[in-house]
Amino acid sequence: RSSPASAPDRLPFSRVSVEDLAFFSQILPGRAITDPDLVESSNVDWLKSVRGSSELLLRPQTTEEVSQILRYCSSHNLAVNPQGGNTGLVGGSVPVYDEIILSTSLMNNIHSFDHISGILTCQAGCVLENLSLFLEERDYIMPLDLGAKGSCQIGGNVATNAGGLRLLRYGSLHGTVLGLEVVLADGRVLDCLSTLRKDNTGYDLKQLFIGSEGTLGVITAVSILCPRKPKSVNVLFLGCETFEQLLKAFQLCRGMLGEILSAFEFLDSECMKLLNTHLKLSNPISDCSFYIVIETSGSDPSHDAQKLHNFLEEAMKSLLVTDGTVATEESKIKALWSMRERVTEALTHDGFNYKYDISLPVERIYQLVTDMRQHLGSRAKRVVGYGHVGDGNLHLNVTSPVKDPVLLAAIEPFVYEWAARYHGSISAEHGLGLKKRNYIYYSKPRPAVALMGNIKAMLDPKGILNPYKTLPDQLKQH
Ligand code: FAD
Ligand code: MLT
Ligand code: ZN
Repeated sequence: RSSPASAPDRLPFSRVSVEDLAFFSQILPGRAITDPDLVESSNVDWLKSVRGSSELLLRPQTTEEVSQILRYCSSHNLAVNPQGGNTGLVGGSVPVYDEIILSTSLMNNIHSFDHISGILTCQAGCVLENLSLFLEERDYIMPLDLGAKGSCQIGGNVATNAGGLRLLRYGSLHGTVLGLEVVLADGRVLDCLSTLRKDNTGYDLKQLFIGSEGTLGVITAVSILCPRKPKSVNVLFLGCETFEQLLKAFQLCRGMLGEILSAFEFLDSECMKLLNTHLKLSNPISDCSFYIVIETSGSDPSHDAQKLHNFLEEAMKSLLVTDGTVATEESKIKALWSMRERVTEALTHDGFNYKYDISLPVERIYQLVTDMRQHLGSRAKRVVGYGHVGDGNLHLNVTSPVKDPVLLAAIEPFVYEWAARYHGSISAEHGLGLKKRNYIYYSKPRPAVALMGNIKAMLDPKGILNPYKTLPDQLKQH
């Protein structure tokens, strides 16, 4: 099988031998999978853009089993690809060559939930949506939410430092994750599974693993601070004609909705066409150039309704929005949210999908879409923009009928140079994985990247954990 063109040569790791297989089958009875049909789906990423050729999928259930696996792999020079729900979008979740896939899917126990503090402690393989359902029954919610909730796992979320739709309100996982249990490359278990809000006893080591994309250790358990379930939730779906109006609506919204604002998301008219064409979702309002999804979450329905009413009146009066609809009832809220959440899925039906996830000063985010459209002209099938306005995070996506190296050469490095010119980030929330690793220098100074290399060498001296990912192929010295 061929490797992706951008992958470096296979490093000199050992290949899985009959003795290795016997060892894994003995410690994981029935859970060391070699049937090619079963391993296949773990070799291919969600976007179906990267394919590895692993012949072994391990499915541990406990931290001790993960520890035994890594101890063995480390001493036998075997490379390992940690895998959660396999919904990552940068080719980090699947092997590049024959790395052993270590799946956390069977590590799905909830350890504890404290009803007073709202602190949840669970294994890394718990699916995000299952955690949300568990918490909702107890009047709490997860501090993060994303379109992949039905498949992604909390360990994968932490490993990618996933942002998602609620970050504006509840902040990033660097703030809400209170503790982690991590198995290091040599099998040592690092128990930093604290459930304390405050703990300044030296370096906060867990932070290193948040966003480390499986390159520094395997996250086996997470403790996370969860907010109370809001008593009143409203969703507004609005339309406006220019991005300037959208930004003014954002400013107005922050001022008038204040503490109850929990999301401010957008999609452009090209996204709406994708939803209509590929998913048969119809526009709930009249056709506009831009659509905004605003969510409020509060504790007093009448107070929130009053605030929303005042905001809408002002936004209409000042001609910022041209049309809109409001949902307070759960099924309609879900339907409006799917117009934003399902853009990713709609894109996969439009041909080959080039995906970019850029952080910029918020007033610049749509300029990148219009510049890219102009730059590519008819070479692209479609150039679309959507994302998390509240976080200054644009998802720029380009489609073409088939994979097209000429088109790719026109997009990259144009897009990265554009982001760097405005001091943006070339990966706001998806990580670097396999696809973006060599572009890290557009967003990080050389000494910072060199220090990352030192940390990797210290924690994983043999480089067995997720090789070829996150760090650039050549670690340039400063
Ligand atoms: P995987 O895809 O399996 O793995 C992702 C990375 O983490 C890999 O490098 C893997 O090696 C590593 N990893 C996984 N588990 C562990 C572990 N236990 N220990 C160590 N390393 C591990 N992302 C956002 O930030 N915001 C969004 O709004 C968002 N929406 C999405 C919507 C859709 C429809 C899809 C398909 C993806 C979306 N994503 C989003 C991408 C996002 O990165 C993932 O959905 C999610 O965080 C990854 O979790 P996972 O369990 O699927 O991890
Ligand atoms: C989103 O916000 O929808 C996700 O990050 C996925 C994507 O970028 O398509
Ligand atoms: Zn996103």
